[in-house]
Amino acid sequence: MSAFQYKAAELYNWLVDNENIVIVDVRNKKEFAKFKVEGPRPCEMLNIPYFDFMEFEEESIAKIPPGSRVRIVCAKEASAKYVADIFSKNGFNDVGYLQGGINTWGNLLVPGLVTDPNGYQLYQFIRPGKGSCSYGLVHDGEMMLFDPSRNLEFYLEFAKSRNCRITRTFETHLQADYIAGSRIISEETGAEFLANEADFKGAKITYTALTDGAEYTFSSDGPRVRAMFTPGHTPGSTSFLVDDTFLLSGDTVFIKSVGRPDLGGKAEEWATMLFATLQKMQQLDGGLTVLPAHFIGWDEADANLLFACPLREAIAGNQAIYDLRTPEEFTVFIKKHMRPQPEEYARIRLVNANLVQVDEDEQNTLDIGKNECAASAYKQVKAA
Ligand SMILES: [Fe+2]
Repeated sequence: MSAFQYKAAELYNWLVDNENIVIVDVRNKKEFAKFKVEGPRPCEMLNIPYFDFMEFEEESIAKIPPGSRVRIVCAKEASAKYVADIFSKNGFNDVGYLQGGINTWGNLLVPGLVTDPNGYQLYQFIRPGKGSCSYGLVHDGEMMLFDPSRNLEFYLEFAKSRNCRITRTFETHLQADYIAGSRIISEETGAEFLANEADFKGAKITYTALTDGAEYTFSSDGPRVRAMFTPGHTPGSTSFLVDDTFLLSGDTVFIKSVGRPDLGGKAEEWATMLFATLQKMQQLDGGLTVLPAHFIGWDEADANLLFACPLREAIAGNQAIYDLRTPEEFTVFIKKHMRPQPEEYARIRLVNANLVQVDEDEQNTLDIGKNECAASAYKQVKAA
């Protein structure tokens, strides 16, 4: 049977459903080490570079048990198709290759309904390839977005499928780890772009500056969105309180760890700000549901595969960080866990402030890979 093409969303579903598949990633070892498919459940995955199949076809095929359901992944698609055909020729009859290559996995967004109370819906759009979450708040034909990625088509299609128009798009901060979508979404739909001046001053973007404590509403009642300035990860980091129930915490409070304050090269200054913010967060109602902009791993997801937990649990789960009593102690902790940031981050910031324009290929290169926004890896938090 000839090999078939599959989409990133199908791969995600197979991984969620625990389908018995074997992923064969045929990119080179360096590319594989930098970024690979990670799903909510463990899955068998092998990295066998494409050239191995060209040079040592028999040995390479022999690494996969006969009868396996093989799903090939490559950089762009062509080499996965080539390898898929080799598998088919060798008697494997359930072989697929990823349409569009690894970037389509990197850009995949998976919508999950967080809640549907009182006539509004709050969606979490999980980006498994980045370890990030954007959000959509829908009420009466309007949708507000928070931290959308550059997958414009997804958001437009989603709005269409819910019969709503995108009216506002908020950024929790000037992102460094991925190309933000608010600017293109705003240009495409006329949605108002809202962001914090402390991060966006100087950006070549038409935006409305957020005000601390201000409320943003839909045309006809609906849930209120309150901006809460929570500086530290960046000076302009902002969280949003939705309906006094949900805390969209950006890169400030995570389920595991907290946002790192050293990405701007001013670790001490920003760590001091973050310390004060985390003190403030601990005064909030512990029953608020934290909805973070990032996660480190799928073990943070709940039973519905959503990244959400009560604020008191986010604090309790990171007690080693929240127990630090002074800005000085906190800064020492941050410095101890500091690690270099990916070199692309400086350029991504410029792209997100629209101070440089890059073509689609460069966007793909800049935008690929897991985020590096947490102050510490989980193991380090536990050990601290
Ligand atoms: Fe960030």
